[in-house]
Amino acid sequence: MILENKDCLEFLSELDSESVDLVLTDPPYYIGFDGGKGWDSQWDTEKDYLDWCMEWSEECARVLKPNGCMYVWGTTKTDTFLKYKLDVLNSLEDMVYQSWIIWSYDWGGRTKKNFARKHEDLLMYSKGKEFMFNRDDVRIPYIMKKSVRKGVDLNPLGKIPTDVWPKNNHTTSKEYAGWHPTQKPIELLERIIKAHTNPGDVVLDIFNGSGSTTIACANTDREFLGCELDKEYYDKSLQRIDELVGIKKFTSNKLIDILK
Ligand SMILES: C[S@@+](CC[C@H](N)C(=O)[O-])C[C@H]1O[C@@H](n2cnc3c(N)ncnc32)[C@H](O)[C@@H]1O
Repeated sequence: MILENKDCLEFLSELDSESVDLVLTDPPYYIGFDGGKGWDSQWDTEKDYLDWCMEWSEECARVLKPNGCMYVWGTTKTDTFLKYKLDVLNSLEDMVYQSWIIWSYDWGGRTKKNFARKHEDLLMYSKGKEFMFNRDDVRIPYIMKKSVRKGVDLNPLGKIPTDVWPKNNHTTSKEYAGWHPTQKPIELLERIIKAHTNPGDVVLDIFNGSGSTTIACANTDREFLGCELDKEYYDKSLQRIDELVGIKKFTSNKLIDILK
């Protein structure tokens, strides 16, 4: 594991091109939701934010190996994420749009004036048209016992998930750190990691927050490479990682070669 308390652009500039197997990251969304710390509202204009997104996204595409995948979390609460897709991700050389995944949940307060927003979005691009998809490693149980249309037995290994992923986290989860406002469910991160990498492969998260991606890597025997700018989050994430999986679980020799 290599996890540094650093700005993402500085960290990325130290990485070799085509050195990571998967980019899985969760940037600030520019909606002002950051627990009062200011990291989600540090840009004067949307254009400034998108220009910054272009810088780190280009760098992520550079360090990704050919046929590797890049996942970026976001929200359609405002149109900024759509602009990020159209103006930034779609313009990256060699990156091919593959999936738009919805993470849905059902906790927390809800408005009485409309249908409450209870989902976040996740975009997936591959570097080149081809990419690895370990479908048997991510199957989930069927609800039915037999195929409704044909009446035959279903695959005992389960079904391949669709692009809608229901998963409650936070108050219902023992892994919830409780101090980071935008923590992602470890189980869903593990699904992505298992689908597109093999054990020992390198996963990059440049906005590591409370350390969820690092923990998902430990649980799936992948190497983790990443950074987090906020010192308080960084320190607490190290503690969380150690408590849940043990820092010693990681070996970092392979990663040293990737850092210049
Ligand atoms: C949406 S949160 C990620 C949450 C994470 N997925 C989790 O499960 O805990 C974005 C994170 O990016 C960090 N951040 C903001 N600007 C950064 C920068 N320039 N470089 C590195 N990290 C940054 C914030 O401190 C915040 O923790």
